[in-house]
Amino acid sequence: MSNIAIKVENLYKSFGKGDTLVEVIKDASFTIDKGELVALVAPSGAGKTTLLMMIGCVDTPNSGQMWIGDEKVYDNKWLTKETRKLRREKIGFIFQAHYLIPFLNIIDNLTLLPQSNGTNDKVSKAKARELLKYLDIADKEKAMPSQLSGGQNQRVAIARALANNPQIILADEPTAALDIHRSVDVLKMLKKIALEQNVAIIMVTHDDRMLPYCDRVMEIENMGVVFKDSK
Ligand SMILES: Nc1ncnc2c1ncn2[C@@H]1O[C@H](COP(=O)(O)OP(=O)(O)OP(=O)(O)O)[C@@H](O)[C@H]1O
Ligand SMILES: [Mg+2]
Repeated sequence: MSNIAIKVENLYKSFGKGDTLVEVIKDASFTIDKGELVALVAPSGAGKTTLLMMIGCVDTPNSGQMWIGDEKVYDNKWLTKETRKLRREKIGFIFQAHYLIPFLNIIDNLTLLPQSNGTNDKVSKAKARELLKYLDIADKEKAMPSQLSGGQNQRVAIARALANNPQIILADEPTAALDIHRSVDVLKMLKKIALEQNVAIIMVTHDDRMLPYCDRVMEIENMGVVFKDSK
């Protein structure tokens, strides 16, 4: 097995057609290794979320090729009918808002998805507790999201993204709603996860102060992808 988490070749993505054609990504090729924390930066509207959603098998490219780990998943079309399964088994998502369910406590928020995917109560609870401990919020399992701080809720969202042992975590501005201390906290947590769980993490950010915590900086430039040093 190679160390590659994501490989993309000649990816092209546009929306609409004719007069309403919007080309977003024209010819993106890149590789991201397991264990890497990569920042994705570009001006608003440049296609960061679009790129993330294609890697996450949520949005379909127009053409190109894509691998997740050693598995080729896209070759001018999806190579499986079950992109939902790919997503469920290989990808974890974290968003700007934590999207926890307000009327469920923390542990129930974390076990909801695994249980609806067929994991039994005991196993999913044990995994959720292990993740809460790993993220240093074990004492919050009975709390409601409204009783937690923004940073703590974001940690729960990170725990939720880790629940299916993903190979890739896609984070779209996970620190946008947090102050600098909480943001750095989340970044350190993501770095630790990348290293210890051998997961590739791509994180969209508009905050340059986050870049030194990342291994590489990926930029969308002229509708393509280029890498810059993070320091
Ligand atoms: N479903 C869609 N239909 C049509 N156009 C879309 C769609 N989704 C995105 N776009 C267009 O694609 C371009 C890239 O959008 P995207 O959301 O990926 O940008 P972004 O880099 O994430 O911006 P931001 O920093 O504001 O979140 C924009 O011009 C947007 O209008
Ligand atoms: Mg976006």
